[in-house]
Amino acid sequence: MKNLLSIDDLTKDQALEILDTAVELSRLSDSSVRKFPTLRGRTVVNLFFEDSTRTRISFEAAAKRLSADVINFSAKGSSLSKGESLKDTALTLQAMGADAVVIRHPASGAAHQLARQEWTKGVVINAGDGTHEHPTQALLDSFTIRRNLRSDQGDLSGLTIAIVGDVLHSRVARSNVLLLQKLGAKVILVAPPTLLPVGVQQWGAQISYSLDDVLANVDAVMMLRVQRERMDDLFFPTEREYSRNFGLNLERINRLKKSAIVMHPGPMNRGLEISADSADSSRSVIVEQVANGVSVRMSVLYLLLGGATSRDLLMTSAGGI
Ligand code: NCD
Repeated sequence: MKNLLSIDDLTKDQALEILDTAVELSRLSDSSVRKFPTLRGRTVVNLFFEDSTRTRISFEAAAKRLSADVINFSAKGSSLSKGESLKDTALTLQAMGADAVVIRHPASGAAHQLARQEWTKGVVINAGDGTHEHPTQALLDSFTIRRNLRSDQGDLSGLTIAIVGDVLHSRVARSNVLLLQKLGAKVILVAPPTLLPVGVQQWGAQISYSLDDVLANVDAVMMLRVQRERMDDLFFPTEREYSRNFGLNLERINRLKKSAIVMHPGPMNRGLEISADSADSSRSVIVEQVANGVSVRMSVLYLLLGGATSRDLLMTSAGGI
């Protein structure tokens, strides 16, 4: 594995290796080890062409816990055309010796372009490209599901996950459908027809237009943010009607299985796709998702840059700081 551009880059075994390594890292971080010397002297560049708080901070925390140097480059608002700006920026970073470039960009395919054109010699990690993919979000979501419902073991076979809402604009949904199915879970996409992309039937997931119909049968509900900034048209009549049909509230949570968990990648529109009391309820693992994101991104950086296995990690940390 040279880069992480799409969930399609991973075999099932590689995906499980990332999750297993993240489990070790989170265990060690919970105990004595705060910082690992593994990536000392390596440089990780966060190249963000689009607003982000949690993903950028999560990658920064992950890189720093592995002792890498971190450069944050926020290129939002550049007046250069997208292609030129990406190329010039990448060449600059290459001159600075970036070992890894974590890129978020509003254009689908930007991370692939960076990797394919070889504008950087560093590994490329896609932190969200347009409406296309967000592989580390899917990995942290599967990690969170596995932790809560499978005690950190094995794959996700036998589980059913509902992904609810603005599937059309969601790179989180796309990466999650690929990964959850790769790991053996069944996926149900729940949305109004206007918020499903053309060709969604080929994704291999079940499709439902009714949240109420699926609630009793799922092990996790993953709520998606309504991405108003990507909407130049009306995709549903009113916000009230959207909430009434597709919003998660306590009454709906009470119809879930006792063991089922509630997820959201953030940032949330409280009161639109999820009510405030649902987001803060005991079934919600939304804050845990954020914490797990750091362990999963440490694992990805470690495996891509160290080229090692989780066993080596344990040996490194034994002699670590
Ligand atoms: C997601 C994103 O940016 O794709 N958020 C995130 O990475 N934490 C989801 C979203 O913005 O709705």
